[in-house]
Amino acid sequence: PFSPQYCLDHPRDLSLAQLCGVLVSFARLNFQPSSSEEFFSMVTSLELWGLDTHLLTDVVWALCVLQQPRGPLLGLVLGPDFHTRLRGDTSPRAQSWWLKLLQINATARLEAPGYQGPFLPPEALGGHRDGDGDRDKATPLQRGLREALPGALGGPDLVRCDVSTVHGWDIAG
Ligand SMILES: *[C@@H]1O[C@H](CO)[C@@H](O)[C@H](O)[C@H]1NC(C)=O
Repeated sequence: PFSPQYCLDHPRDLSLAQLCGVLVSFARLNFQPSSSEEFFSMVTSLELWGLDTHLLTDVVWALCVLQQPRGPLLGLVLGPDFHTRLRGDTSPRAQSWWLKLLQINATARLEAPGYQGPFLPPEALGGHRDGDGDRDKATPLQRGLREALPGALGGPDLVRCDVSTVHGWDIAG
């Protein structure tokens, strides 16, 4: 119903749910609004801590993607109370939120000067991926890549596959 520009110009006309939805859509589209100070200060002045775990993760992730990380919000989702709630949940939905938390963690470390923590503990990674499990779940494209790369590049020692980066992205090869 509202254009992106309208949302940016009139953030006060939107409900909290609408604002969160707009923000997450901007992030998914990687739409970096230019004159958006009012919009972001409005979003981050809201009572976001009351949001449900998953929505709050989405909102903080979106702020990271849009290069608007806010220390207090980073601290909120990277703190132990928060991510232990996601632990043990192995549904695909939870995995995707987990990936967002890793991206938030990387943003907190690399792009939020002055942010002191908390960070996701490194061992948090363990519960959610084990290499063997990932290998079994490789897509046909990933399996093909693994087979083709050594030949294309001239030897298996020139190839790395399934690399998890600090940015939260996995690189297939
Ligand atoms: C989160 O970032 C911290 C600080 O850089 C790092 O030590 C930690 O390994 C990261 N956590 C995960 C799960 O990647």
